[in-house]
Amino acid sequence: MSAEFPSVRPRRLRSTPAMRRLVAETRLHPAELVLPAFVREGITEPRPITSMPGVVQHTRDTLRRAAVEAAEAGVGGLMLFGVPEVQDAVGSEGTNPEGILQRAIRDVVSEVGDQLVVMSDLCLDEYTDHGHCGVLAEDGSVDNDATLERYAEMAVVQADAGVHLVGPSGMMDGQVAVIRRALDAAGHRDTGILAYTAKYASAFFGPFREAVGSSLKGDRKTYQQDPANAREALRELEQDLAEGADLVMVKPAMAYLDILRQVADASPVPVSAYQVSGEYAMVEAAAANGWIDRERTIMETLTSIRRAGAEQILTYWAVEAAGLLR
Ligand code: PBG
Repeated sequence: MSAEFPSVRPRRLRSTPAMRRLVAETRLHPAELVLPAFVREGITEPRPITSMPGVVQHTRDTLRRAAVEAAEAGVGGLMLFGVPEVQDAVGSEGTNPEGILQRAIRDVVSEVGDQLVVMSDLCLDEYTDHGHCGVLAEDGSVDNDATLERYAEMAVVQADAGVHLVGPSGMMDGQVAVIRRALDAAGHRDTGILAYTAKYASAFFGPFREAVGSSLKGDRKTYQQDPANAREALRELEQDLAEGADLVMVKPAMAYLDILRQVADASPVPVSAYQVSGEYAMVEAAAANGWIDRERTIMETLTSIRRAGAEQILTYWAVEAAGLLR
């Protein structure tokens, strides 16, 4: 045999679909997918979100139906976002027991609460007229500790409505501890916290701002992390664990797979990743132009996020991907 022919041939394990299936290291399952969903107050028909083709702002009714569809598809959870009719400086609707998110939580929990995990976004940006994730101090900066008081109240009304996991996404210092204390004091010891642990000040959230009708001018760089930094993700992780996070999350996903890997290696609790609105929009836009194969791209992104260490993936494709996995 001539010396230039290899005796090591990795291609053997790639030779047939059966062989590739046998040796695949990463497998996706519908149960680890979480569908984010928007519910808007005061509408009678669902409204399309232009920058997220295929995603809508739901009415309470269509949200209920979408929840049933997700449960039937075997999806593991839902992450709910409320879009209120009225926004104000302190985000009052976020703590109104009859606010749109609280009503939607009750609807969805009674419909599918025994089949999947119901989660809610715990943040003020959907509710404030300035669009920031917290309340503002007199100088216009986001007031960390005044915001914590609002988050504590939000946690209790969301838990009163029956949510299983609250998802604090505002990146205020100390948010997990304050929420844990408030939940416990209100008797909600079994309500868990999915902490947005490493959340970056990202351009990939662009379409979400349309999805929730956010009026934000400016940016979130004084509270969300700098895309240049990895180390502070580990500091946030340490902090969230010490404060009682039940699950931790990295967000966005695709541009932060290195962060996901580092957090996954260091975390003793489950690690989730959020494939955000801009990631969705990019793939949909390219696919609509015929520039990429849509389904292959979706599954490749999800597999890569899983491979990087995420055990749960929040994705707007959750139901469709669950269907493709069957
Ligand atoms: C904050 C929140 C945001 C997202 C989830 N929770 C927006 C932000 O921080 O600017 C983004 C989700 C997405 O882009 O899909 N309430």
